[in-house]
Amino acid sequence: MSEVVPFRIVVVGHVDHGKSTLVGRILHETGALPEGKLEYLKEVCVKRGMPFEWAFLMDALQAERDQGITIDTTQIHFRTPARPYLIIDAPGHKEFLKNMITGAASAEAAVLVIDADEGIQEQSRRHGYLLHLLGLRQIAVAVNKMDLVKWDEARFTQVKHDIESYLAEIGVVPTHVVPISARNGDNISSRSENSPWYKGPILLDALDGFKPLPQEVDLALRFPVQDVYKFDSRRIVAGRIESGRIKVGDRLVFSPSGKNARIATIEAWAGTNQTHLSAGAGQSVGVTLDEPIFVERGNVAHQPDLAPTIANRVHARLFWLGNAPLTIGAKYKLKLATAEYQVEVASIDRVIDVEDLNNHTGTEVGKNAVAEIVLRSRQAMCFDSFIVNPRLGRFVLVDGFDIVGGGVIADSEVSAAGDETASSNIVAVGHKVTAEARAASNGHKGGVIWLTGLSGSGKSTIAMELERRLFLKGLQVTVLDGDNLRYGLCSDLGFSPEDRTENIRRAGEAAHLIAKAGLLVVCAFISPYRSDRDKVRAIDPELFYEIHVATPIEECEARDPKGLYKKARAGEIAEFTGVTAPYEPPLTPELVLSTHGKPVSQSVDELEAYVDRVFGLDQQSANAG
Ligand code: ADX
Repeated sequence: MSEVVPFRIVVVGHVDHGKSTLVGRILHETGALPEGKLEYLKEVCVKRGMPFEWAFLMDALQAERDQGITIDTTQIHFRTPARPYLIIDAPGHKEFLKNMITGAASAEAAVLVIDADEGIQEQSRRHGYLLHLLGLRQIAVAVNKMDLVKWDEARFTQVKHDIESYLAEIGVVPTHVVPISARNGDNISSRSENSPWYKGPILLDALDGFKPLPQEVDLALRFPVQDVYKFDSRRIVAGRIESGRIKVGDRLVFSPSGKNARIATIEAWAGTNQTHLSAGAGQSVGVTLDEPIFVERGNVAHQPDLAPTIANRVHARLFWLGNAPLTIGAKYKLKLATAEYQVEVASIDRVIDVEDLNNHTGTEVGKNAVAEIVLRSRQAMCFDSFIVNPRLGRFVLVDGFDIVGGGVIADSEVSAAGDETASSNIVAVGHKVTAEARAASNGHKGGVIWLTGLSGSGKSTIAMELERRLFLKGLQVTVLDGDNLRYGLCSDLGFSPEDRTENIRRAGEAAHLIAKAGLLVVCAFISPYRSDRDKVRAIDPELFYEIHVATPIEECEARDPKGLYKKARAGEIAEFTGVTAPYEPPLTPELVLSTHGKPVSQSVDELEAYVDRVFGLDQQSANAG
């Protein structure tokens, strides 16, 4: 008989909602408990004069596991007539998430336990979010302790409605919602007489109805190249087939280069002189090709019509292990299958506290936290969303020699800010003129001098005067100004928060293009949102200098060079920064220009001195002089 792979499930829910009781009950009803265990525990309870609880059973099993005896509660097995099951569990959220995200464990379906009496609580929401985080799509919600609410149909309907609405908010649709009593064994392996109104499947039938995820061998071919060996005249492309299968004669495309050739022979990995006609997922093989194409470690071979995603950006869910927090703009090595890419943190979209599963926005990710982030690389990265193919959808981040995080690649959801690269099959093209060569030719490196501040704070005036002075000194310099860009590149944008975000994104991208061409680009944008400016910085933190033109609103309003404050106060301009729209000053700008009560020329002097210092211009003139 061929060995059937167990169907892997997770059971999540507040302990008080009956998670352990449910697991104990399932083990009992499916005959999975060690002989005599239950009787023994019941006896102990009688002797001690306390009522038996199913949770005791789980505690007892846990205690045995701790001593290394019998059942490992992190891997609990049971079987229904339909198939074997494996319940994946972990002592705490931290271990659990770490295992799930790093691939030590992965589940195909989940049971979410909710107390019928207490209803959905913050904890249930967090557990729901956990399922979303793990990308689980097959979910049975067990509304437990129905006996405590006297099997009231209306109560069940209420709890069902509450959990369904919450899950809908995070894009999760439960497959079934089942009323049960884990303690009494209602609707678990047999239909209860207490709920004649319930017509859906009982819990174990609901589980049996879940579809197994495809086996690796049935997924699209992913054959990451580990090495290329030269034997006599042959070149052998070696690696482990992560998913799918190959056979002699198949055409292989190697991404990201796109080079392709047919398989001439398949050799056994360790040079046992055996050849094969075909091979599949899990096997380590070497192949020879019918054409001498250039292939290197990190390339991924696949079938021509079933390519992985190739892009410079990935949306990831990350488990952070580093002692130092992960920050926007930080650089790491990303290892995915056999490839290594240099990446930078482009944004941190959400940070999740693993103890209480609270999620919030943040600018850094501390040790043992989970976060949703965007990573970018100058190289073309080759991957799959982990829901599509876990083998090419998982990665680790390395800092120096240390693994500092593990993650999975999420579905590419397009974020509101248009932050995602909409086209996936794009590859950054490398320049042949280096930044160093440009800097040597210009006498200075490129950079983005980003002035942020209120309308009327003096940004544009300072920018134009600085440009004039630097130009006269022979520097390659230009200005990007908010009002000017809004006539052209950004003429389709207004002043809503979304439009401002897009305005700053475009300005930031344009500024970096110019800076990379070797110029100093002075930018004058209100750029009222900190997160927008952080994203601009993240494009290339080494080129970015944030200057806060810190003129108090009273002074901007008193100056009112364009008469806009007056109009805004009169209600003629909506969402005017500082009046009816927010301004978030930088927390750690490179420079603050306190313009208060000073002539503009003095602020320009300060800024010019700063630029001279940062770009080494003062030294140059000293040398020249
Ligand atoms: S940003 O907020 O998106 O960074 P940006 O710097 O491009 O703004 O443009 C600001 C300029 O637009 C101001 O100097 C002002 O002349 C003009 N403006 C028109 N309406 C508004 C508004 N509602 N809020 C701020 N500036 C406005």
